[in-house]
Amino acid sequence: MPTISYEGERIECEAGDELRETLLEAGLSPHNGAANYANCGGRAVCGTCAVEVDGAVSEMGEKERKRLSKWPHDLESGLRLACQTHVEGDVEVTKHGGFWGQKTDQ
Ligand code: FES
Repeated sequence: MPTISYEGERIECEAGDELRETLLEAGLSPHNGAANYANCGGRAVCGTCAVEVDGAVSEMGEKERKRLSKWPHDLESGLRLACQTHVEGDVEVTKHGGFWGQKTDQ
């Protein structure tokens, strides 16, 4: 059973579970501040669920790639959209600063 490490918590989930939904169900959020309310609900449109992920997860799909190619994101940042990412093994997740979590130096 995969474990997600996030903000000092460890959450167990099933392989294949969607990262954003799993965090929300555990009372955690992949969004910062107002983005907790102003988000697209997991449709790969807003980009506010971007997180750094270290571990085994699904490949990036076309919708996710498109959104992460647009401002304020940059595909080269290596961030993933939690709403499009499925957990496949133990992962460590980090949320960075900024409305979209795009400030990888914070
Ligand atoms: S919640 Fe909007 S892109 Fe993930």
